[in-house]
Amino acid sequence: MRSLILVAGLSLMALALPASAQRTDAQSSDFADARRFPYQNGEQLYHAICQGCHMPDGKGATGAGTYPALATNPNLEAGTYPIHMVVNGQKAMPSFNYLSDEQVAAIVNYVRTHFGNGYKDAVTPEDVKGMRQ
Ligand code: HEC
Repeated sequence: MRSLILVAGLSLMALALPASAQRTDAQSSDFADARRFPYQNGEQLYHAICQGCHMPDGKGATGAGTYPALATNPNLEAGTYPIHMVVNGQKAMPSFNYLSDEQVAAIVNYVRTHFGNGYKDAVTPEDVKGMRQ
């Protein structure tokens, strides 16, 4: 029941996204497209897609918006949480659901083992598949 409410809430949030969060051609090139960024390596994918908001060192930023630090972040302990963020998005974080299961797993494993994070239990492409809404 709880998870049903969560799923319903997330869907409503997606509907309520302001027009500025919807992609234009100019914006989508910033956020990378799997066809333009066919990397499979988590480090390359992080630097192509995530660092624009979370910064090259994973420390996040505040300014026009708030981008939380991924560095030494205890929220990354459960691998399913960053998978959910990447494939489904949340609030001001867009979803990157065009990435393959392998690409999402590679990025999540990179982030969970770098920037001061030491979570060695790697996630798998199957874990990613199970988190897609
Ligand atoms: C357009 C900017 C943007 C990009 C690009 C982006 N994020 Fe985010 N991310 C955010 C924002 C904003 C939040 C906070 C969302 C919220 O308020 O719930 C966030 C939150 C997160 C969180 C949750 C942090 C926490 O402590 O709860 C994770 C994990 C995350 N992002 C990973 C990634 C990864 C991995 C990528 C690359 C695939 C990425 N993000 C790309 C903006 C971005």
